[in-house]
Amino acid sequence: MKYLFAILKLLPPELSHLLALNGLKLMHKFGLINFYKKDFNNKGSFTIANMSFNNKLGIAAGLDKNGDFIDSLGALGFGFIEVGTTTPLAQLGNPKPRIFRAFDENAIINRLGFNNKGVDHLVKRLKSRNYKGVVGVNIGANKNSKGEKRIEDYVECYKKVYDLSDYITINISSPNTPDLRDLHNEANINQLLSSIKKEKEALRSQKPIFLKISPDETKDTIEIILKAVKKYEITGLVLTNTTIDKTNLRNEALKSEAGGLSGKPLFAKSTETIKVIKSLDNTIPVIGVGGVIDHSDYIAKFEAGADLVQIYTGFILKGPSIVSELLIQE
Ligand SMILES: Cc1cc2nc3c(=O)[nH]c(=O)nc-3n(C[C@H](O)[C@H](O)[C@H](O)COP(=O)(O)O)c2cc1C
Repeated sequence: MKYLFAILKLLPPELSHLLALNGLKLMHKFGLINFYKKDFNNKGSFTIANMSFNNKLGIAAGLDKNGDFIDSLGALGFGFIEVGTTTPLAQLGNPKPRIFRAFDENAIINRLGFNNKGVDHLVKRLKSRNYKGVVGVNIGANKNSKGEKRIEDYVECYKKVYDLSDYITINISSPNTPDLRDLHNEANINQLLSSIKKEKEALRSQKPIFLKISPDETKDTIEIILKAVKKYEITGLVLTNTTIDKTNLRNEALKSEAGGLSGKPLFAKSTETIKVIKSLDNTIPVIGVGGVIDHSDYIAKFEAGADLVQIYTGFILKGPSIVSELLIQE
């Protein structure tokens, strides 16, 4: 398995991710995944935001955008899986190449641009899943949707998935959809969250809603967002998405690539965002994500105030063994 993983690393990133996920699916089908799975549920289940978890480690949004791998990822032992980002219409995303890896820095730059098969495909996958752990759905807007239509996109996705998931994440923080991050502005965030709240009330839904924000915001913007989160009864925050700040990346050739930086160079910034939020409100549930590569990073997220932790880049770079590395000592 070690050698197979080494070969995958030599392939172009998107091809290697696709092969790895499909390989995992095959292993799951033939019952071979148990090789990785240990008993991570030795402390029993616990509740956060009215959801019951077996452990605190989740897979972050973007890895399984279409819900095609929920059961195989779940079989690795994750306590929760966030699928998406999904948009109302299928879209191809940006031209390739659009993922760049810096192995020696445990970092990735991506500018995928919400490539996904559309929310109706995801709905089918959610309905057919067998995984019994917590599943969140991360929702977004199509690239060509502007103004009111952009808000309607979030509401449409919300309506289609709220009942099939355990929680929803409103993603306003991808740097790869033009102007998406302007949803952090006061007028825009209030308009978006009030529309979702209206829909939530109309549907009489009790499902928790999280907001995923960027690590590149000022404290003033964070305060504005937190005020809107309270006003519109958003349950919690996912902290954070990738950063457009490349100063912590040493690889000069990659620095000039447009896109969001994830992995180790993001760790300090995303962890600081958790600390800022928790200093303003220490009761709000937080899913910490950004740069968790080893066990000490994992623990540091909880020390900063996270209630749950997600990984993406660490999983891509280390493979399934990272699950036991992080959880075995939890
Ligand atoms: C290739 C790639 C694709 C991603 N796609 C999404 C996405 O569709 N939606 C989203 O909310 N975050 C997406 N992310 C961001 C991750 O969910 C996560 O917030 C970020 O990578 C920081 O965590 P990490 O350092 O563990 O990777 C993506 C990240 C990567 C590397």
